[in-house]
Amino acid sequence: MKSQLEEKLNQYGQAHLLRFWDELNEAEQASLGKQIEAFDFELIQTLFTNQQSGGNKWAELAAKAEVPPAITLQDFANPQSYDEAYSLGKAALESGKLGMILVAGGQGSRLGFNHPKGMFPIGPVSDCSLYQIHCEKILARSKQFGATIPLYVMTSPPTHDETTKFLSENNFFGIPESDVKIFCQGVMPAVDQSGKLLLESKSKVFVSPDGHGGTLGAFVNSGCLDDAKSRGVEHIFYGQVDNPLIQICDPALIGYHLKSGSEMTSQVVRKNEPTQKVGNVVVVDDAVQIIEYSDLPEKYASQTNEDGSLKLWAGSIAVHIFATDFLERSSQSSDALPFHQARKKVPFINELGARLKPSQPNAIKFERFIFDLLPSAKNAIVCEVDPADGFCAVKNAPPAPSETPQHVKDAISALHTRWLEAAGATVEEGTPIEINPLYAPDAATVAAKTESGTTFNQPTYLQ
Ligand code: UD1
Repeated sequence: MKSQLEEKLNQYGQAHLLRFWDELNEAEQASLGKQIEAFDFELIQTLFTNQQSGGNKWAELAAKAEVPPAITLQDFANPQSYDEAYSLGKAALESGKLGMILVAGGQGSRLGFNHPKGMFPIGPVSDCSLYQIHCEKILARSKQFGATIPLYVMTSPPTHDETTKFLSENNFFGIPESDVKIFCQGVMPAVDQSGKLLLESKSKVFVSPDGHGGTLGAFVNSGCLDDAKSRGVEHIFYGQVDNPLIQICDPALIGYHLKSGSEMTSQVVRKNEPTQKVGNVVVVDDAVQIIEYSDLPEKYASQTNEDGSLKLWAGSIAVHIFATDFLERSSQSSDALPFHQARKKVPFINELGARLKPSQPNAIKFERFIFDLLPSAKNAIVCEVDPADGFCAVKNAPPAPSETPQHVKDAISALHTRWLEAAGATVEEGTPIEINPLYAPDAATVAAKTESGTTFNQPTYLQ
């Protein structure tokens, strides 16, 4: 086995991966050999060479960036436009044409939480997990429209087993087991400054999840796309596990997607400052695309209109709706999604067998992003949402200035307080409020269930 591996590795200048081979036991040799056999060294070499000659692609694109075709809050506030969109979305939901992908490959490490992020407790009163909120929202929508919405949860190798166990021990929070599929994304190795793969231990090459763009291949290879098609699912609602405010399968949002014949619709917020950490949805050379916040030079991010508002206003909240056919078509082309590179600190084993923890970025990771499907989608549009209604993701541990667990809990409580107040109730200031999605999935249902004049002055979980 060693000589075969050596031959392959020598071809790509990666023979150092076998440096400790003779110290390994049989099982370790087998697992290292299997890992090496699975890598596409040709691809890794190309990616490394391309990143060296990458140039300033983003600045060139940003210079040409224009605003995307958008359904704005004004359209949502126009009763005629809204009602028409709502009816279209409702009909699609009632006929079982929607499914949902929840991407949950991330770990809670940035939050100091040593588990899959989806298990993080976020309910402001109930303390329930992100997974519970998402599952109950899907179930609530299924009940509201009398049709199944199958849930496809994408995990990554570090989150897969724990997620599967957690969801199954909790009976998928009420969703029938046959309507939940858990599929795992792939991985990519990282390279050092000279293009060499890094060893995590003497018997393991360092790999990390291949980015949420890995959804596309993994969704198809796991049989989930076929499952969705066999159920008559024509559109897939996509969201990230870190945002408990997602308006899962909102009928009006689906309606606007359908009405515009869009193959991919992205929900956006109006950016509150030029450098807000959200992807920028723009149009370049007639194609909608996202320029990530880290790639958009400030001089373009801060351009303004005559009234002083931001020109490139549309910030992606990573909620998309895909036509199932579009996902299938995209999956048939191997280069539908380009790789992005990120410089990261990756602990590794050096040539003497010592484990080093770098203090500066020492590695290049390669990831694909699902939003790079936008330029090839027909009639792509964005739909605006007020962040107070649909976007507050948990990303950072305190004392970060934003996106901490407390910010998110406050945002959930503030939204549910507004729903109750709109129904004529009084909520005393500072009273935490949480509404279980199965009690009421939206403001209209809360209004129908709330007696005007009711006062809330104790932490309350309506369920
Ligand atoms: C991401 C988006 C950004 C968007 C913002 C909204 C990217 C590169 N950027 O930023 O455009 O405005 O969210 O909140 O995505 N995940 C996987 N597998 C992976 C990588 C990520 O499942 O291999 C999932 C994570 O579980 C997480 C989500 O994708 O739920 C976002 O990943 P994260 O790295 O936190 O992205 P952001 O930088 O916050």
